[in-house]
Amino acid sequence: MTEIPLRKIDHVRFFVGNARQSAFFYRNAFGFDVVAYAGLETKVRHEAGYVLKQGEITFVLASPLSGQHPESNRLVTHGDGVMDIALDVPDVRACYEEAVKRGAIGVRPPEAREDEYGVFETASIQAYGDTTHSFVNRDRYRGVFAPGFKPIDPERYQESTGRPVGLAAIDHIVANVEEGKMNEWVEFYRKVLGFTQLVSFDDKDISTEYSALMSKVVQNGTGRVKFPINEPAQAKRRSQIDEYLQYYGGPGVQHIALITGDIVKTVRAMRANDVSFLRVPRAYYDTLTARVGPIKEDLQELVELGILVDKDDEGYMLQIFTKPVADRPTLFFEVIQRRGSKSFGKGNFKALFEAIEREQELRGTL
Ligand code: FE2
Repeated sequence: MTEIPLRKIDHVRFFVGNARQSAFFYRNAFGFDVVAYAGLETKVRHEAGYVLKQGEITFVLASPLSGQHPESNRLVTHGDGVMDIALDVPDVRACYEEAVKRGAIGVRPPEAREDEYGVFETASIQAYGDTTHSFVNRDRYRGVFAPGFKPIDPERYQESTGRPVGLAAIDHIVANVEEGKMNEWVEFYRKVLGFTQLVSFDDKDISTEYSALMSKVVQNGTGRVKFPINEPAQAKRRSQIDEYLQYYGGPGVQHIALITGDIVKTVRAMRANDVSFLRVPRAYYDTLTARVGPIKEDLQELVELGILVDKDDEGYMLQIFTKPVADRPTLFFEVIQRRGSKSFGKGNFKALFEAIEREQELRGTL
């Protein structure tokens, strides 16, 4: 199927219970700048929104201002989570119409919103669960983010500038879907957006004593937009994917992987900001050099920070995962540095999933 021309991920929109406090978290813990605000003061009556930026990453945090907000039930069902993954496209109307023609369910038809800074075009389609994909085009828009948003007022929100930790771009965004649904969603991305399947992992790759999952990765033609899709697989006990589906109340975004050019520096800075990461046992590092060969980083630093390494034919990569960022065991983040490798960390799955299971054990959800 011909690809729908996507330039890149424009932004990720989170729907949260308290956007003001979430903005504080992503600024102080993850080092984002808070650059724009929408709310009562900017004549937006139904919700508050904060736009955060670091490198090429844009996050939008939104909270309803009353129970009348059409999406307010999301918070009861899902807790905080990703509502929309917005894709930057050259022609919103053409993308939307083509996507719907190919079977996508339209959520919001194309609209051109205008203010004194120009025209901002957007439309959206349904993805897995309650998640949506917006198509956005800001070629004719010079404002700070979108109509309704104003640059942050330093009087109102002091020290809007974070201390960047070196996060540069989004590498991939992972979906958890119900058992038996992974292939349907792979088909959706192939058919509707013209993505291709990159790799697949089955339960033999990704099973530990207790839990198992299957995963396939789809990407757009340029490889700039990568979406792995997980489903739970049968195992002795409950998969981490089942735990997610229960607490998120259905399919949704499991993790967002953020690229850094210097993972040691980034993780050190995030730890200093009190971000909690998953730890693998010390024994993981005993076989590391034998498994991945020579690496540029200092092994002792990787051990100290708990950074994982994997390799493929093209090079190696370093990665680490935060613990869930809200109370529910749902959304978490990955920090990743690629040194040639296009891998998603298959060689780390076992150690990593055992670490997740230790957390599940504590939560009584294994
Ligand atoms: Fe990942």
